[in-house]
Amino acid sequence: MLVLGIESSCDETAAAVVADGERILSSVVASQILTHERFGGVVPELASREHLRRIGPVVDEALARAGLTSAQVDALAVTEGPGLIGSLLVGVVYGKALAEALAKPLVGVNHLEGHIHAVLLENKIARAANPEIEAADFPNVTLVVSGGHTVLYRVEAQPSAGARWPRFRYTRLGQTRDDAAGEAFDKVAKLLALGYPGGPVIDRLAVHGNSDAVDFGRVRMKGNPLDFSFSGLKTAVLYRVRGSTLENEAEGRRRWQSDLRREGKRPSGDELRDHCSRETLDLIASFQSTVVNDLVERTLAAAEAEAVSSVFVSGGVACNSLLRRRAAEAAHAQGLGCFFPSLALATDNAAMIAAAGFFKLAAGERAAVTLTAHASFPLGVSAAADKQ
Ligand code: KG4
Ligand code: ZN
Repeated sequence: MLVLGIESSCDETAAAVVADGERILSSVVASQILTHERFGGVVPELASREHLRRIGPVVDEALARAGLTSAQVDALAVTEGPGLIGSLLVGVVYGKALAEALAKPLVGVNHLEGHIHAVLLENKIARAANPEIEAADFPNVTLVVSGGHTVLYRVEAQPSAGARWPRFRYTRLGQTRDDAAGEAFDKVAKLLALGYPGGPVIDRLAVHGNSDAVDFGRVRMKGNPLDFSFSGLKTAVLYRVRGSTLENEAEGRRRWQSDLRREGKRPSGDELRDHCSRETLDLIASFQSTVVNDLVERTLAAAEAEAVSSVFVSGGVACNSLLRRRAAEAAHAQGLGCFFPSLALATDNAAMIAAAGFFKLAAGERAAVTLTAHASFPLGVSAAADKQ
């Protein structure tokens, strides 16, 4: 089954064709970084307009790269939420109209389910190339960690009678009570004038700093120990910067970068590093290490509580090199498998939406004519609600 996936929940317009939920024939992602970078974050109205401009060409390009005409795809899958409502609507309306015009089945996909399927998809691709590679396991604990989300799920693959493919069941074990981890990276980078998006910049710069230089302590909260909170850490960074020499240094970087932008240039990694003092590099390294330790600790605590044998980590922050290293080390030390998508599939893309959509389509699910976008769209049931 050839599924055309469409994703437009935030600031990437994406389309992909995936065969049988496991072979990527094409995956096109049009990034809007250049539109939003001078604001240090995504501007929703600009994002919707960009999606409108790009959606048609991006879908055409995905079909062309797969060597297909639209009439040759078997079905469509589109992200229905969660995300920015104006951005989501562009993809949903486009997907609905195309499915209607082609008289093909359509299914709506939860963006978070897409991130979970990115891991599965990647693992299948890797195993097809090398059967020695460990198979991704179910049930597992999956951490979806991105600019908009930080959520822990228990994921089960349930075989259904007479069907070739399993149905997936998601139980929410914990989530952030305030900022998402990626949002904390982006806000700290904005405060220190390091560029946008902040995660990749901090990842690259932090290797030059000492992660033990600043002790931010551990994030403590009452209630569910599998919930996250990053706003306190972000504020702690803010207090260290405000009124200190770091603030003047950041102001200098801000001016330097806007001058470069006016000349149509972007700083290289080395140039940016040369514009950062040791104190700034140490602060960034300590911040990153605190976030990563917290993510790893709670994910492994969830895996232990759920008695699963593997963990998945997905979403944009799953690109973080320290997170990839520490999560793998900690999981293996506990005898658990640890699976990540490749960098290209960890951030927003439509291949993961097509892959997640495939299992729904295979189970006979079809979008109702009322399919629409949802800014808030929780995936699965909450473990707390389950216990009531
Ligand atoms: O999954 P994604 O593309 O979009 C959302 O669904 O939010 O994730 C984007 C987020 C941004 O906050 C970005 O700063 C973060 O992922 N990110 C990273 C890294 N690469 C992207 N955070 C930390 N380290 C990275 N290497
Ligand atoms: Zn995402």
